[in-house]
Amino acid sequence: MTIDLAISMIEDAPIPTWYRVGGTAECLAFPASEQQLAACLEDEPNANILGDGANLLVDDEGIDGLVISLRSLNEVSLDPATGFVTVGAGIKLPRLVLDTVRAGLAGLQGLGGIPATIGGATAMNAGGRYGSFGDCITRVWGVTRDGRPEPVEIPRDDIDFGYRNATFAGVDPVITRVELKLTPGNPEALRSELKSIMTAKAESQPLGAKSAGCAFKNPVLDRDLGEFGASGSQVPAGKLIERAGCKGIRVGSAQVSPRHANFITIAPDARHDAPPRARDIIDLMEIVAARVYDRFGVSLEREVKVWRRSS
Ligand code: EPU
Repeated sequence: MTIDLAISMIEDAPIPTWYRVGGTAECLAFPASEQQLAACLEDEPNANILGDGANLLVDDEGIDGLVISLRSLNEVSLDPATGFVTVGAGIKLPRLVLDTVRAGLAGLQGLGGIPATIGGATAMNAGGRYGSFGDCITRVWGVTRDGRPEPVEIPRDDIDFGYRNATFAGVDPVITRVELKLTPGNPEALRSELKSIMTAKAESQPLGAKSAGCAFKNPVLDRDLGEFGASGSQVPAGKLIERAGCKGIRVGSAQVSPRHANFITIAPDARHDAPPRARDIIDLMEIVAARVYDRFGVSLEREVKVWRRSS
């Protein structure tokens, strides 16, 4: 590697993910500035970018080349009077949700309990039934993969936020900073709203288990499907998976959560059974998708990203 030696790097490094399974990265770098990130990308334009590892599964064999963690891009500035917040890509979304609620700023309280970094939450427009992260974004900065040292600035009008994805007017930046416009409000009211959303999620989702959140995107039906809805409507993948009889099924220690069928978790008794393997989770996702397709003719698209060796 010819990258600037000042950049913190570890070779043959475990890749921290929420699943806590999978192999190592040949090299893991922690750039502490946009300029250091640009230097990494100049050296390896196709480097994989690591957020919180919350929506990521790394194959057991590990991966070649450079992985870039953005955890050191961690500056936050917050103006309770105007509601403008600027936040680095490496900050974790749950922390930002708490900080903004405590500062009495409304807008993110519906995103409690979503594991992600700000970079990942922006790139995937993280969210759920209480809103999406893109709703509050006014501007994004990022570094392009051609090694240009200056970050690009992308105004809201040039960003298209979709369901669990975002596009940036023809640019494909590695997001480094995001500006949000929140609304000054009442901290007590926001706190109790956040609390009731967290309680509702804890009742329906296996929040304490090792998982990567929802495994599949909620599909849009291409024809009428009885109790699930009419053509063009979005149907919860968890409902389809449950009705296809998949709740609780296992491959090795990977299990379709008995609580919420769109979560694939490491079963609590995993250690007595077999050490958790990424392969088991990948196989189980394939089995689930095949069963739903066989039963309902609906194709599920994975929300979880899988990193594996190119060859
Ligand atoms: N349902 C079932 N069986 C299940 C799970 C759900 O029948 O096993 C039914 C529920 O009864 C409910 C409906 O499906 O009527 C929707 O379920 P839920 O409210 O849990 O929402 P979801 O669509 O499954 C989405 C996001 C979640 C987010 C929640 C709540 C996706 C793929 N998932 O889940 O996000 O936490 O809304 O806001 O969009 C994630 O993206 O990782 C994630 C967990």
